[in-house]
Amino acid sequence: MRFSHVLSSLAIVPALVSSFPNAPFKTQGKKIIDSVGSNITYAGVNWPGAGEVMIPEGLQYQSIASIVSKIKSLNMNVVRLTFAIEMIDDIKDRGGDVTIQKAFSKALGAAKGETAYQSVIKNNPQFNAATTRLQVYDAIANELNKQGIYVHLDNHMSKGAWCCGGGDGNTWFGDQYFNIANWKRGLQYMADYGKKWPNFVSIGLRNEFRKPDNAGSSLPYDWSTWYTHNIDAANIVNAANPNILVFLSGLDYDTKLSPIVDGSDLGGGKKFLLTDFKYANKLVLELHNYQNSATACGDIEGGLWNQGFRAHGEKALNKMPVVLTEFGFSQADNSYNGVYASCIRKLMPQWEAGWTVWVLSGSYYIRSGTQDYEETWGLLNHQWSDWRSKPAIDALKTLIAASLD
Ligand SMILES: *[C@@H]1O[C@H](CO)[C@@H](O)[C@H](O)[C@H]1NC(C)=O
Repeated sequence: MRFSHVLSSLAIVPALVSSFPNAPFKTQGKKIIDSVGSNITYAGVNWPGAGEVMIPEGLQYQSIASIVSKIKSLNMNVVRLTFAIEMIDDIKDRGGDVTIQKAFSKALGAAKGETAYQSVIKNNPQFNAATTRLQVYDAIANELNKQGIYVHLDNHMSKGAWCCGGGDGNTWFGDQYFNIANWKRGLQYMADYGKKWPNFVSIGLRNEFRKPDNAGSSLPYDWSTWYTHNIDAANIVNAANPNILVFLSGLDYDTKLSPIVDGSDLGGGKKFLLTDFKYANKLVLELHNYQNSATACGDIEGGLWNQGFRAHGEKALNKMPVVLTEFGFSQADNSYNGVYASCIRKLMPQWEAGWTVWVLSGSYYIRSGTQDYEETWGLLNHQWSDWRSKPAIDALKTLIAASLD
């Protein structure tokens, strides 16, 4: 390389460095804006890490760098990286973070756990027997930063396991595994811990609140309970880390946010007021949608709008950004071409809304008792080596382009 070429390639480095991540973000009406005033629209993918092993998936098949490069090749800008509160309980109450070797052994059994661990360190030789789970989160956050992708942490479960059902003990405040104090402590810990990641821009307080099978007077499932704990948790998180956005998730598997948008009665005369939160310009709403069997886009559109995206409308009492943090469909057939997938591709750009698709995983270390579980909804194949469906990915790329336009 000639010297003049060295100079000209060096000259572009400062511009690249200063354009990412431009954190912290804040909200302004329906928009998320970065520190230089640009609109930010999330266009990304879910990377699960809240299963029994409590280590982000896929590392028994590929390196972190190669997985992140795949995400980057789509021009996605964010990863919704999930974690379980149990990981922080281990750190706080049970003698510190667990090594990945022990985590695999505990979740998969001694022999299969060791095999998985050996594959992980073969693909990711920067790890070894002393590496802990949080150090894997560090490595992923750092690689995402290097490749210009934001980190959105998501508290997916209390107890590490596949989510979600009404009887899984993680449904709601006070459920079998959903200890409220531990939940708040875990959020506070991760909000603070992630300060060392420059690209850590937001956190979801809890994935998919849902009605416990045993809901009742000792386990009341209502908006008033939701409001009390979400205000408290949001304030705790932002006190620990005032820079990050806080995502609030609705009821009924995060399909319902309407009383928040409308400012209607949450029970006992309480109403959602942005000013009830200490960091009102850090609040974002998140919604999930799996109306995969819909036969008309209008049915999806009406529901999504009324249950949350109305916060993007002129008439909303509480104008806030809404991000569709989960939607998805089989990558093993022609679903990408169906009513549901086509409808989401139309609506998100139309509403200038961000989204993260479910799911990156081609397979899981373990899911619902099955090891090396095949995920047919995964964008990646079982070995995380290539896309599961090229046509589905091409369709997804049109959504990414339209969203980031
Ligand atoms: C951000 O989006 C809003 C709403 O669509 C638009 O009015 C504004 O011009 C955008 N700002 C920038 C800096 O592009």
